[in-house]
Amino acid sequence: MKNNRREWIKSALRFSLAAPLSATVVQQLMAAPVSGAESSLPHLPAEGGKVRLNFNENPYGPGESARQAVIRTLAEGNRYPFGEIDALKAQLAKKEGVTPEHIHLGAGSGDLLCQAGVAYGLEGGSIISAFPTFPMLMDYAAVFKARWDKVNVNDQLEHDYKAMAAAVKADTKLVFICNPNNPTGTLVDHKVVEAFCDEVSPKVTVYADEAYREFLPPEQQHTLVTQVKKGANVIVSRTFSKIYGLAGLRIGYLIARPDIIRNIAQYAGDIPMSQTAIAAAAACASDESFMKMVRDKNAEARAVLTSYLDQKKMWYGKSHTNFVFFPAPKDGKAILAGMEQKGYLMRIWDFKGKEWCRVSIGTLDQMKGFVKAFDETIS
Ligand SMILES: Cc1ncc(COP(=O)(O)O)c(C=O)c1O
Repeated sequence: MKNNRREWIKSALRFSLAAPLSATVVQQLMAAPVSGAESSLPHLPAEGGKVRLNFNENPYGPGESARQAVIRTLAEGNRYPFGEIDALKAQLAKKEGVTPEHIHLGAGSGDLLCQAGVAYGLEGGSIISAFPTFPMLMDYAAVFKARWDKVNVNDQLEHDYKAMAAAVKADTKLVFICNPNNPTGTLVDHKVVEAFCDEVSPKVTVYADEAYREFLPPEQQHTLVTQVKKGANVIVSRTFSKIYGLAGLRIGYLIARPDIIRNIAQYAGDIPMSQTAIAAAAACASDESFMKMVRDKNAEARAVLTSYLDQKKMWYGKSHTNFVFFPAPKDGKAILAGMEQKGYLMRIWDFKGKEWCRVSIGTLDQMKGFVKAFDETIS
């Protein structure tokens, strides 16, 4: 990728130098352009009535359990959520099999990625990650002078764990991994990832972003919390934004050794989560039937897109998530503009001198409409 994303972020920061940790900067990082095509078009196009297949959002949520909890909790909107934070930490600790001191809540996992970006980027040195991946931690660490060492994904668009281990240097502060990965959707076998942690975490902290883990069938939902339980130098992040459908309510959490949690939490804002977000998360954290509904509907709607790509003989990364990544069959700017005109928002990434489409999975009807519009746009 060209340096356009970094330059864009720097210019965004010039307007907020007095408050480099402000929410505005975090929002800008989250939605920053990831390609020349995106930079050259109006940033965040007007959305009126358009189908949002650009942020990997859940088109069904929040589920009924979360909705009812929010309604019930409105009456407590005048109260600071001190007790509720402790109660949710205890609930999540029990679910994960750790102590409440191993849990740190944030206003979405983006908030936590930024806190970790400060904690590990403050003193310079490098942060390693696969490329392309979700860039927020590295971009934020770069604000504090850290260097982002990128290790390209392999030909199957999977993290190359051997190359990532080999990239660790004396000044490496953190290795960020994402499994399944955004934007590629690919998954690496948990045994490979665990072996990587065994090798690397004694030398350097590993941050594992598991934002899309719940899109896997339950028997495949492995987690690096097993490493945290062994006392390893590993941080796991989770979010309620994806399968739980609470992206607008903003809540996520970290699981790590208490000393690591304390180091990151010192960069947290005051109380970033609202009563409603906490209540919604508490209500749906174990709502297996809602998660199954989303997983099943997502797989069905994703098949509309992958069948279309198969039929057109267009290759794509094997997706285990609610988005699909594939080489752009035509100029990225023309695709973005043409699709927007037809009412569909999507993303274009730059990688290895090529342009790539990332399309989030909406409802079945939205995906049927998408492939029709896409076919017209690229013809
Ligand atoms: C891999 C990954 N991590 C973290 C996030 C941030 O999500 P949130 O801040 O809503 O938890 C996203 C959002 O798309 C993501 O794809």
